[in-house]
Amino acid sequence: MLTVIRKVTLSRFLELLTSSSLLRARTVAAGMTSTGSQDYDQKVVPKNEVIRFIEDCMCKAGTTKEDAYAVGHHLMIADYRGHFSHGMNRMHMYVKDIEHRITDPTARPQIVTDFQAIALVDGKNALGQVIGKYCMEKAIEKAKKFGIGMVAARGSNHYGICAYYTMMAMEQGLIGFTCTNTSPLMAPTRSMKSALGTNPLSLGMAACNGDEFVLDMATTAVALGKIELAIRKNENIPEGWALGPDGKVTCNSEEAFKTSLLMPLGGDEHSSGYKGYGLGLMVEILCGILSGSFFGPNIRPWKSGDKVANLGQCFMAINPEAFADGSKERLTILLKQLRDLPTSDGKTVLIAGDPERRHMEKVDMEGGMTYHPNQLKASEEFAKHMGVQPMKLVPKSV
Ligand SMILES: NC(=O)c1ccc[n+]([C@@H]2O[C@H](COP(=O)([O-])OP(=O)(O)OC[C@H]3O[C@@H](n4cnc5c(N)ncnc54)[C@H](O)[C@@H]3O)[C@@H](O)[C@H]2O)c1
Repeated sequence: MLTVIRKVTLSRFLELLTSSSLLRARTVAAGMTSTGSQDYDQKVVPKNEVIRFIEDCMCKAGTTKEDAYAVGHHLMIADYRGHFSHGMNRMHMYVKDIEHRITDPTARPQIVTDFQAIALVDGKNALGQVIGKYCMEKAIEKAKKFGIGMVAARGSNHYGICAYYTMMAMEQGLIGFTCTNTSPLMAPTRSMKSALGTNPLSLGMAACNGDEFVLDMATTAVALGKIELAIRKNENIPEGWALGPDGKVTCNSEEAFKTSLLMPLGGDEHSSGYKGYGLGLMVEILCGILSGSFFGPNIRPWKSGDKVANLGQCFMAINPEAFADGSKERLTILLKQLRDLPTSDGKTVLIAGDPERRHMEKVDMEGGMTYHPNQLKASEEFAKHMGVQPMKLVPKSV
């Protein structure tokens, strides 16, 4: 069985991660754990090792060391924040697009127009993380000069988690905002066909004493990655996440993944799903419509390997000091007031960004990232495919 797994190619690797063969892979991985080949439960991958592994793979795929680090650091942060669907799990997709000559691993983003607080960037089909970092740096530079900076990008690719970019602005004492359009996966309210993407957005602002608000969310009920993870865990999905092939709500994760018809945030029309649909369309206006990239149903289908993505993205940085004094202090008070609210079940009210911070604390306490055995198996196979050193696991610290 082991030899069979070792012969996995890139496409088999993709299957391992996403298709119905996950069930078989799960059994294999479980068997390996129980026979003691790898005691995955007690092992973690240190953050630097995650970056090293991704960097090595990306360099092998043809990127510069600098860009490989940009991708590696970004994907590590996604996993660190607990968004495993958008961390290392996504690397295979980037490599596949490079191998199929769909993404240009050495391209550099270029300014199309630059006027005071605003710029339009052509990503030149470079890696999404490279374009995203470039654009947010530009927006930050402008916000420091003009109080606000806004950059729209076209010719881009999947850029990972939105919060990465808002946090870049927050580190500079600014409010960060970003959003991206994505391949059509969301069925607008009343439709049984997808026409908008998961179109995520993020806004973040730092408060005092390390506190912060970091909203980072898809405008669909969930990101598709959450359904992939449900498949990997052999779980059903809750009602209100996705439609089946008949256009009716489904709870079957495999069926939902196959159909890929996500419901907007809020679910169906009765539970106000049209608001999520409206937010998704708002993101599309800030991204595809403003930048001149592909938009809505005209974007390539999810995971299609034969067409450039030409995604649109929007990045904003705002200097709170350009407005009334004391905004940071007011935010600190507000976050405390919200956290102190009484609850019916004894659980504390959270602020957007809290769940991610808790996950980061856990990772730091354990000395690294705890990956699902299937992710680890898939990464081992991928290391072989790319001809790089596999990720080294270490025992958990506690
Ligand atoms: N690049 C892309 O194409 C793409 C597409 C979709 C999603 N994503 C990324 O996927 C990630 C996951 O998105 P998601 O929508 O599944 O996120 P999610 O549903 O896990 O969380 C959304 C937001 O809600 C907050 N939150 C969670 N529980 C909370 C609670 N009890 N109280 C208050 N706030 C709470 C989180 O901190 C987060 O800010 C994001 O990082 C997003 O940027 C990327």
